[in-house]
Amino acid sequence: MAIKLEELEVKHGFSYQVEDGIAVFTFDLPDSAVNTLSPETGLAFDALLDRAEQASEVRAVVFTSGKKDNFVAGAKIDFLQKIKTAEEAATVARNAQKGFDRLDGFPKPVVAAIHGSCLGGGLEWALACDYRIITDSPKTVLGLPEVQLGLLPGGGGTQRLPALIGVQAALDLILTGKHVKPSKAKRLGLVDEVVPVSLLRPLAVRRARELADGTLKVERAHGQGLKAVATQSKKGLAGFFKSLANKEMWAEVALEDNPLGRKLLFDQARKQLLKKTRGHYPAQEKALEAVRTGVTAGRQAGLEAEARLFGELVVSDVSQRLVELFFATTALKKENGTSNPSVKAREIKKVGVLGGGLMGGGIAYVSSALQGVPVRVKDKDDLGAGRALKQIQGILDERVKKRSLTSRESAAKMALVSAGTDYSGFKTVDLVIEAVFEDLKLKQRVLAETEAVTHDGCIFASNTSSLPITELAKGSRRPELVIGMHYFSPVHKMPLLEIITHPGTAEWVTATCVEVGRKQGKTVIVVNDGVGFYTSRALAPYMNEAAYLLAEGADIAELDKALVEFGFPVGPITLLDEVGIDVAHKVGPIMEAAFGKRLAAPKTLDKVIEDGRLGRKNQKGFYTYNGKKKEVDASVYALLPAGQDRKDFDLAEMAERCVLQMVNEAVRCLGEGILRSPRDGDVGAIFGLGFPPFRGGPFRYADRLTPAVLLKRLEHYQDKFGERFTPAPFLVETVKEGKTFHAR
Ligand code: NAI
Repeated sequence: MAIKLEELEVKHGFSYQVEDGIAVFTFDLPDSAVNTLSPETGLAFDALLDRAEQASEVRAVVFTSGKKDNFVAGAKIDFLQKIKTAEEAATVARNAQKGFDRLDGFPKPVVAAIHGSCLGGGLEWALACDYRIITDSPKTVLGLPEVQLGLLPGGGGTQRLPALIGVQAALDLILTGKHVKPSKAKRLGLVDEVVPVSLLRPLAVRRARELADGTLKVERAHGQGLKAVATQSKKGLAGFFKSLANKEMWAEVALEDNPLGRKLLFDQARKQLLKKTRGHYPAQEKALEAVRTGVTAGRQAGLEAEARLFGELVVSDVSQRLVELFFATTALKKENGTSNPSVKAREIKKVGVLGGGLMGGGIAYVSSALQGVPVRVKDKDDLGAGRALKQIQGILDERVKKRSLTSRESAAKMALVSAGTDYSGFKTVDLVIEAVFEDLKLKQRVLAETEAVTHDGCIFASNTSSLPITELAKGSRRPELVIGMHYFSPVHKMPLLEIITHPGTAEWVTATCVEVGRKQGKTVIVVNDGVGFYTSRALAPYMNEAAYLLAEGADIAELDKALVEFGFPVGPITLLDEVGIDVAHKVGPIMEAAFGKRLAAPKTLDKVIEDGRLGRKNQKGFYTYNGKKKEVDASVYALLPAGQDRKDFDLAEMAERCVLQMVNEAVRCLGEGILRSPRDGDVGAIFGLGFPPFRGGPFRYADRLTPAVLLKRLEHYQDKFGERFTPAPFLVETVKEGKTFHAR
């Protein structure tokens, strides 16, 4: 199909300029903040290459972007969602491969000049060029994040990347989807040159000319950068995928170069991967297979395997769930948390934090180090104030150790925080986040104290995990400025922030707190007020069910295993130990008072608490914490109703009982208007409660199962166990209407 030059510019955003024998293509997709690739852009790019090939005065090509901080963000994902068959998707990949192959074999040298994010198809495009020059800006990142959407790089990335930087380093990028910064990209051999932003274009043009003249020759040592290792950060979904990478595995993969050794090593890598993904994330396995095919059977076979496996993944359930999740979080990033998009956030120049404990310290860290504003912490005693400072310093030290911060940057961030035992410094704060003990009277008292010392426009946010914000606001002189900001522990790692509004919260206050959360690096959902809001409420019956199972005689390790097999990062009993058995125990009566017997916690934990077991924090819980392998502390069974006498339970049934409780409660929250949409419920459960991303969240899970089947399963358990499995009225209604939650 012939595309006219004018159409190339107006419709596809490609401009074509020839400067002294060098054709510069600038990609600036109209009506979009970032450049994305689609079959249409492929055709347009092809037309540009035709021009450059035919023009005798053109000796080389530079490909760059007109966007502010973006080169190419990757493939346009919505068109993938419309694909119906694996074969159709494989054809899309084959076409992309053909386009990049043409670039690879282009008779004139091609230089990619990269500033900003260069991801997925964008990096595959750059890989097909002869020379890659990037800026040293912190906005410049490179990566192949396809696995995070349950896909693999389908434009030749599984073949070109290992060829360029070696199998080990390539797998580390492909299987985790991680982004690399300029310095690491250079170290890995992924790019040829790192330059200041202002020099990008002139130097790219110069390098293109030198390549055409033959004065610059690029010799590539295949397999450079073998020392790249996976990081183990647990932050967010990206962190989850990163954690799938395993240092030993890569070390082994890199060891051998002979065919037999390689087979053994790929087999071993696959086994290790399966241990981590438990078969829930097929994209990693298929990406490994595509790389392996290329390494063992040659590039052509590798490309064909890549296209075929890409096709299979595009139409898989897992990928569809992960893509939906991507769209959900992208949409959330654009919202202000109110129904009125014109409401603007106000500037927060300084934050006050009340309580320097586990949560307060973490909140002070994200406010100072990430949001970048001065923070004043107030605790009731020096111990608390000092603990907060120590916690922040510890997190910064860890980042310096991992080289994500320099010592100087760390010191500058630390200098933003101060702590004390009175309200000095609170006069100038615009937002106070309260994280004192979970006690309504105490929280009301500190609210009154704060209002006496802060200015009239200062927002008061509570980090309570269960108490209604409406109750707290009753004691306020400025209830419109009272809101909930519910963080999760550990604050610096957990990606969710649940914001809770009460009926009188001013819209600008909500918009401001949403903006603050985003600056702190959080995915933010806004919910309406109620005891336990959304996340604590959905978690309560899930944890209760685990406690019932323990009381019935379930084995601790087996119970945890059941939920991990389902896809949670840890099982409920491990979670109890992590959160603090006492903390969970305190939520029980609050839930019972609000929701009656249905959410009453079983008495299973009473004796465990009496025995002084708080979990990891005092090294005494359901598991042992003596530095060796994590093991169940068998002595805890004597404190449980069924004693040492443990029974065999079906793993799937244990998981189903716990999960149905969470899903049913989520449906109640939606029906009662606590949740504003099933989308928010899915995002909240995945990022706050560890609900398996590949299952899409409680509502996607329910829709996949069908609401009718969910209802039947709940009724089945209701017959067996009674009231606590009563189906949510909103579920019954949804079934009657023959609808699904996402399509209501
Ligand atoms: P913590 O016990 O570690 O810290 C509470 C801090 O508040 C202590 O340092 C204490 O000295 C200080 N404090 C008490 N009275 C004070 C006062 N009048 N003025 C200033 N400081 C005072 O507790 P944690 O775990 O940090 O919890 C704090 C809040 O966060 C609670 O409301 C809790 O429900 C909530 N939360 C806790 C989560 C967790 O996983 N631990 C998760 C989400 C919310």
